[in-house]
Amino acid sequence: MVMQRDFISKLTVLPDKTALDRAAARLVRTAAARSASAEGRFTLALSGGATPRAAHRLLAEPSISPAIPWDRTLVFWVDERCVPPDDPASNYGAALEDLIGRVPLPEKNVFPMPGTEDPVSGAVAYEALLARTFASQDGLIPRFDLILLGIGKDGHTASLFPGDPALDEGVRTVVPVRGGIPDVPRLTLTLPVLNRAFQAVFLVSGREKAPTVKAVLEHPEGPLPASRVRGNVAWLLDAEAASDLEVPEREKEKEVEGDR
Ligand code: 6PG
Repeated sequence: MVMQRDFISKLTVLPDKTALDRAAARLVRTAAARSASAEGRFTLALSGGATPRAAHRLLAEPSISPAIPWDRTLVFWVDERCVPPDDPASNYGAALEDLIGRVPLPEKNVFPMPGTEDPVSGAVAYEALLARTFASQDGLIPRFDLILLGIGKDGHTASLFPGDPALDEGVRTVVPVRGGIPDVPRLTLTLPVLNRAFQAVFLVSGREKAPTVKAVLEHPEGPLPASRVRGNVAWLLDAEAASDLEVPEREKEKEVEGDR
């Protein structure tokens, strides 16, 4: 019997960052259990930046970690800065500290982007890895069970920056780019991969992101890279990030006491 894997509601506003982190960790836990049960494995792609780090750390906590089938969980990255893993800018390095090094994930299930190789060859190598890992799926574009995304104030997501030709890549799944903060060479998944995810979820926190969130959600056909993410996309916002939106009361999720 194929279990139906629910989509979370498209837009959920949490009272604060702590509630957002808990909601994100719960979402990963639920998606992992259902994908592992329905498909035999759970494929997850993590973004970098500051926003998801607390949620990553929560996934390693005793209240959540035991419920996640780590032996059947495969962890990938949405993007990576081309720096050594011990560089503070490394997305893999941050996730290793927050999550990977704290849970019983088999090493063979962890697929960091080759951030220390030449970006061009690193992109080709990761593309080949994805093709092997998702070979059993129909179609050439890998379908992740869950992709966690962030958004920059400029509307970028992954390492897809405004005006970058990478935004128009329709065939390749991983490309080398340059930009962002820090402005370094990077590898990034392309929109075809983000848009094919069974579930993509934006995690957004903070007042500084509110205008960008409004621009993207109220102009879904707009030019911002985050607006180009389509398909099964959901948004988890804290109240500050949602503060420029007219959010119907029903969408505001209250932190349920004991809902840890
Ligand atoms: C990266 C991220 C990037 C990030 C946004 C938001 O490697 O830079 O993948 O897309 O999600 O820049 O970053 P913050 O969470 O730090 O605001």
